Amino acid sequence: MNKRSLSLLGVLLLAGQLAVAETKVQYPQGFRSWYHVKSMVIQPGHPLENPFGGIHHVYANTKALDGLKSGIYPDGAVLVFDLFDYREDNHALVENKRKLIGVMERDAKRFAATGGWGYEGFGEGKPEKRLVTDGGKGCYDCHASQKASQYVFSKLRD
Ligand code: HEC
Repeated sequence: MNKRSLSLLGVLLLAGQLAVAETKVQYPQGFRSWYHVKSMVIQPGHPLENPFGGIHHVYANTKALDGLKSGIYPDGAVLVFDLFDYREDNHALVENKRKLIGVMERDAKRFAATGGWGYEGFGEGKPEKRLVTDGGKGCYDCHASQKASQYVFSKLRD
């Protein structure tokens, strides 16, 4: 291979990496200080037990909070589903280890194939443990039931 085709190859590889990065959901850095929308406990026997059994909290960044209020989510809106195992302690359900976080990132163009939301899971909430292998299709198929509310289940409350 001559010098020119080598550098062309370099450009192509870089472009390929950028394309992959573009369709990836970003890790939601700092989400613990975002707006807390709601919490829920999913117990054994519930249809969502696997993999969503446990105590979860839903967080919204500022743009997602705007969306929850108006029903229109601007690009850059991010919702996080923060899921913990629990143990029973003296008739209380107590948070144990973090199981995963589920993330929805709004970008109407980049994630057009899944309703304008990118979906990702991070095992134990760790940025390096990406869980989604189907481009978010499995997540989207279930969230599709909420099409009327832009694929978002959670509602705002006081
Ligand atoms: C079988 C159905 C189902 C599947 C599959 C599913 N979800 Fe959800 N998801 C729900 C339900 C139901 C809620 C609402 C939970 C609540 O009310 O606290 C939810 C809530 C969420 C939320 C909070 C925003 C909202 O819509 O309320 C995020 C973020 C989320 N899911 C991400 C994901 C990701 C990422 C995947 C795939 C890895 C996924 N979900 C797969 C049913 C599903």
